[in-house]
Amino acid sequence: MESCNYELIFPKTKDELDQDQEWVIVKEEGCQKKIMVHDYDEIYKIPGLYEDLFYKRLGCDSPNVVCEMLAEEMKKADETDVGLRVFDFGAGNGIVGERIREMDCDLVVGVDIIPEAKDAARRDRPGIYDDYHVADLTDLNDQEKRQFRDYNFNTLVTVAALGFNDIPTVAFLNAFNLIDEDGWVAFNIRDKFLTENDHTGYRQVLSQVMDDSLDILQDRRYCHRRSLSGDELCYHAIVGKKVNDIDNLSDIILSGDTD
Ligand SMILES: C[S@@+](CC[C@H](N)C(=O)[O-])C[C@H]1O[C@@H](n2cnc3c(N)ncnc32)[C@H](O)[C@@H]1O
Repeated sequence: MESCNYELIFPKTKDELDQDQEWVIVKEEGCQKKIMVHDYDEIYKIPGLYEDLFYKRLGCDSPNVVCEMLAEEMKKADETDVGLRVFDFGAGNGIVGERIREMDCDLVVGVDIIPEAKDAARRDRPGIYDDYHVADLTDLNDQEKRQFRDYNFNTLVTVAALGFNDIPTVAFLNAFNLIDEDGWVAFNIRDKFLTENDHTGYRQVLSQVMDDSLDILQDRRYCHRRSLSGDELCYHAIVGKKVNDIDNLSDIILSGDTD
């Protein structure tokens, strides 16, 4: 993978910033720039920065954790050779796609909301995805809906992309409905979004999905990565099997809309 000559500097603040408030300084060719760590468009433009920041410096291991749990459950269900047709939602520059490719896959499609992610996936991991779409799952047109349905996905994977103004609940539910019944669903989410203090709507939405439409096979709390000040950021990685589509989507979203 290509990488650039830059210097990555962490702020010398003792304040504990929330995950989406964190920032770093990147010095490149005599210029220095402050980048918010959730400004993925800026991060993906600099080859190697995403991996350097989140994986090497902050110890993120979520693609491995989520994909290993999926592989474990597939093995237990004796479905390792099912021929996965994977929808990698919030695909970024393809780290999860690369990991998923190690399994028996018939199709891997990446979707992200920003074009910089698609460009970076092509640059950093060419050939990993059969297709990659820049799309907003809250607002698909009829042609996009048809195109996504025609993939006949049997697996939804979404890593490090729910909450924090990233993938909203409605987009996650729309993605869920694109997966075949009895398909695999594997994702992770920050632990606090599953508590009473959640303001993203995910707690109520996921609890209803788990009650009605998803059979949870494994739920593991683990350290997703460290914060810039070194604290562990804990997430739940969840793997399950889809039971059925969610047909009362708007009721579920309203019940989870706590903002
Ligand atoms: C932390 S990155 C994770 C990328 C990849 N899954 C990984 O684990 O390396 C979060 C990704 O979610 C994408 N994202 C945020 N909001 C989204 C949305 N509404 N729909 C699709 N992708 C979204 C971002 O653009 C970004 O690429």
